[in-house]
Amino acid sequence: MTHGDQLSDPEVLNRCFEDVAQSGVDIAPMVYQTFLEAMPEADQHIGYMDERMRGRMLDQIFNLLLDDIDTSYLEFETRTHRGYGANSRFYRGMLEAVRDAVKRALKDGWSTQYESAFTRSIDQIVEEIERLESPSPA
Ligand code: HEM
Repeated sequence: MTHGDQLSDPEVLNRCFEDVAQSGVDIAPMVYQTFLEAMPEADQHIGYMDERMRGRMLDQIFNLLLDDIDTSYLEFETRTHRGYGANSRFYRGMLEAVRDAVKRALKDGWSTQYESAFTRSIDQIVEEIERLESPSPA
């Protein structure tokens, strides 16, 4: 959703990821490394995933940040992920690891606009996941 000339958060993040593509840095290994450094207890759940599986998961995480929230997709993933040991702390940790890896890849190209778009989007996605995970009112 766009208000006048102001870009929506997904629009800002699309620009941000274009910058990452132009930087030529493959952030995937950095994302998983950052995530596991911050939350080593997640290694027992994702440690076995090979590079291709990690790549496919990360593509979907990027899509979450680059589009308006797709609740039915999130509902599907949170349902399948219950068996994978995921919880809202891990989801937040993963999304923050993406932010931190992008920040490192862009160096001086990082901006306060990117920072706030990430912060708001991460909050929204995690809120939506928590809403989906909490028992619905009778
Ligand atoms: C942030 C949002 C996330 C999205 C959109 C997402 C998406 C995905 C997708 C699409 C796959 C399938 C990959 C394939 O094609 O094989 C996958 C697999 C997996 N995800 Fe996530 N994921 C997320 C977060 C997490 C978190 C926080 C954990 C932490 C425990 C996790 C644990 C796993 C595991 C263990 C698998 C492998 C399942 C298997 O063996 O098939 N994911 N994820």
